[in-house]
Parts: sequence; structure tokens; C-alpha cells
Amino acid sequence: MSQNPENDFVYTTPRHVGIIMDGNGRWAQRRMLPRSHGHKAGVDALKKTVRAAREFGIEYLTLFSFSSENWSRPEGEISELFALLRLFIRRDLAELHKNNICVRVIGSSEGLPSDVLNLLVEAENLTRNNDAQVLVIAFNYGARDEIARAMKLIAKKVKNDEISSDEIDSQLISDHLDTKGIPDPDMIIRTSGEKRLSNFLMWQATYSELIFVDCLWPEFDKSTLSDCLVEYGNRNRKFGGLVKDTAS
Ligand code: IPE
Ligand code: IPE
Ligand code: MG
Repeated sequence: MSQNPENDFVYTTPRHVGIIMDGNGRWAQRRMLPRSHGHKAGVDALKKTVRAAREFGIEYLTLFSFSSENWSRPEGEISELFALLRLFIRRDLAELHKNNICVRVIGSSEGLPSDVLNLLVEAENLTRNNDAQVLVIAFNYGARDEIARAMKLIAKKVKNDEISSDEIDSQLISDHLDTKGIPDPDMIIRTSGEKRLSNFLMWQATYSELIFVDCLWPEFDKSTLSDCLVEYGNRNRKFGGLVKDTAS
């Protein structure tokens, strides 16, 4: 248990929080605005959330920003989402770096415009040695695609006699995923009232506490995150064992 200096409540801080940032479109539609306005407002919520997570002492924050299934959206919306990512990295990378945040990107590079890819690589390279917090951007990410790519890597290694098939276990699979070296998420939050994973971190979410909140992503703020942390603190994590003594 830890007492957070920012708040007077006591909770167990999750080391890694994943967020499925959903509901931008509905937020805009409710205001009779085009969906792009919702995505813009979503970026503001994202920035606030990165700050709040740091203040709460969350070490790893993974944000689902574009899924491998989001390619099925209209071309115009996809271009807008890419434009927002470009803008975010160009405008905010220096500040992330100044705040000692390490950026990691998970997802496939396939299909991404080369300038977007370059920006993502630049963000990772610039911030590689930062250690205040790890911000994982899941962009062009889908868990099934990630697992399939990992299987291909492993199959190649077996074929080249670098490893034997007997060595394949869950640790080896984890070590070939995009999230290699990142602890599994303790808590996954999804906004907008939808209750599904939509292909987010399916391997890594095995024992994540899932928290579904009704607010739309642009409405998410520090106090919503704080509510989620309280709910997380009330959960009993058992990992297949017996209830842990929480009195430690
Ligand atoms: C989440 O908001 C952002 C992305 C998936 C990129 P949506 O765009 O899915 O918003 P809704 O679900 O249509 O309201
Ligand atoms: C999940 O939201 C993907 C992201 C938040 C990037 P979606 O809006 O794409 O998911 P579905 O289609 O409702 O399952
Ligand atoms: Mg959605």
C-alpha cells in the first residue's frame, strides 16, 4: 500500500496502466461537431492523463491510439488521426523528453506513412535513456497481429537452429512481443462504456484488472484516473492463488 502525496487516499499503485481511449467520435457527435473535433479533444485528454499518471507514480502508461482494425475507418478520418500523431510528436516530444519520459512504440510498422514511422523512431531514440516514466504508444497495434509477428520470429529462430522448439514457453513468447521488457498491465481502463478489449494487449492482459468507465475519452481527467485507482485498490488480485493478505 502506498500513500500518494497528491491525494489523501491510500491505494496500491499499479505499476503499469493501459488505457483504451474510446469515445472521441461520440463526444463530438453529441456536440454536433465533426468526429475530428473529438479526436483533437482526445489529444488534450491524453496530455493531461500522461501528467496525472506521472503525479500518481504510475511507472508505465500504455495508450491505445490506433488499432490494426482502425484501418477500416474512412480514409479522411485515418489521415486526421495520423496528422494528430504527427502534431503531438512535433509539439510535445521536447516536453516529454524534458520530463524524463521514455517513449516506447508498440504495433506494426506496416502501412504507416514513412514520415510517421520516422517520427515514432525519433521519439523512441531521443528518449531511450529517460527513466521517470515509460509512455507506451500503441499505434497500428493489434494483439493478434503482435502475436502472429512474434510467432514468425520464433519460427525463424527454430528454423535457423538458434533455439529448439522445446524452449518455447510463455516467457519466450513474451520476449518476442512488442512489449518485451515491459511488465504486464496491472489495470486496463476503457472509457465510453464499451466493455471489450478490441484486440488490446490480449496476451499481456491475462491478469489485468479491467475497469470500464462511462465517460467519453475527451472527458477523462485526473479525477477519473483517481477514481479508477481507488477501484483498483479495492480489487483482490489472486493470480490463480488464494486471496493475498493485504495488510502488508
Ligand atoms: C477512440 O474514439 C479513438 C480511436 C479509436 C482512434 P472513437 O473514434 O472510437 O470514438 P467512438 O467510439 O466512435 O465514439
Ligand atoms: C479501440 O477503440 C481502439 C482504440 C481506442 C485505438 P475502437 O472504437 O476502435 O473499438 P471498437 O470498434 O468499438 O471495438
Ligand atoms: Mg470507438
